[in-house]
Amino acid sequence: MPIIEVKNLVKQYKIIEKQDGLLGYFKNLIKPQYKKIIAVNNINFEIKEGELVGYIGENGAGKSTTIKMLTGLLTPTSGKIVVNGLIPNEKRIQNNKNIGAVFGQKTQLWWDLPVIESFRLIKKIFKIPENEYRKNLKRFTEILDLEDLLDKQVKNLSLGQKMRCEIAATFLHNPKIVYLDEPTIGLDVFVKENIRKFIKEINKEKKTTVILTTHDLKDIEDVCDRIILLDRGQIIYDGEKQKFKDIYGKYTLAEIIVSSKNLSVKDKLQSNVFEIIEENEKEMKIKFKHDETTIVKIMNDISEYCVIEDIHMRESELEDILKEIYKGAYKNGANNDSIRKNAIKKI
Ligand SMILES: Nc1ncnc2c1ncn2[C@@H]1O[C@H](COP(=O)(O)OP(=O)(O)OP(=O)(O)O)[C@@H](O)[C@H]1O
Ligand SMILES: [Mg+2]
Repeated sequence: MPIIEVKNLVKQYKIIEKQDGLLGYFKNLIKPQYKKIIAVNNINFEIKEGELVGYIGENGAGKSTTIKMLTGLLTPTSGKIVVNGLIPNEKRIQNNKNIGAVFGQKTQLWWDLPVIESFRLIKKIFKIPENEYRKNLKRFTEILDLEDLLDKQVKNLSLGQKMRCEIAATFLHNPKIVYLDEPTIGLDVFVKENIRKFIKEINKEKKTTVILTTHDLKDIEDVCDRIILLDRGQIIYDGEKQKFKDIYGKYTLAEIIVSSKNLSVKDKLQSNVFEIIEENEKEMKIKFKHDETTIVKIMNDISEYCVIEDIHMRESELEDILKEIYKGAYKNGANNDSIRKNAIKKI
């Protein structure tokens, strides 16, 4: 049985439509005009216990809105959510016992207290048994390197230090499900790695179900097995991360370091089988499908216009693929709407 079930979920926001000018301002005060924004538009998914799911999409796609509904903070406009047998917005207190949540840079720790005091309060609130608390505290301190932070006041911690404590606080009561909405935003690479490692280890040890929202796709590469891709309120992909890469990651990317190049090669060389994405005097970035051409042939073509010094190749990563989808590379000449529809069909 799935631990999270989402059926025909819709969330509409009603906002005041701004009217121009001073007259508009007064009109708004007297009789405001409202308009609706459909942030989440009829989505369906199920998540099994222990899954690590990356919930991704462009800014404004509806990710945070979904997470807020899953946690019970927001009430759906229509549709159904069942989390561990409960309807979150109807049973918020019971639901809160089962879940943990991190929302970007908002803190759940007590600002003026030392970190360890916040942890003790959480222990009390969630009635965490002493031995469980000690075990978790020891383990989390180890992985997240919290030793030197526990006695510091939360307000004196740096962003990365605070987030490490935040993550520990979120997992302290052994929640069955954890929602992480952009937990790595603004953090340096080491802290990001630390947090990714923590999520993976705890998931493995405790079978915690994790839904992770992030714009750093390295988080998803590292942590998640499954991705749900949201586009303007609708799911356009839900499945294994690897399968997503197999379907869409058909491109090989090559960085070609060149010398003696003063003209734009892109203007001179038009090809159906490879594309120059970027170029400057020193390098060119190209992409091609390996079943349509080879790097040797491409180098041969390019070498007519410049001297090639070096070449680096890599398969397209999640980030490259998403850029392509957002840009609309999956249907030449079509507008974004049909590209996106096309992307849905392909899946
Ligand atoms: N409280 C609100 N009132 C009105 N509109 C809102 C509200 N919260 C979000 N929206 C709108 O709903 C849409 C989805 O917003 P949401 O915050 O869920 O996106 P997101 O995918 O989390 O984006 P981001 O990656 O920028 O965090 C956006 O168009 C946003 O402007
Ligand atoms: Mg968001």
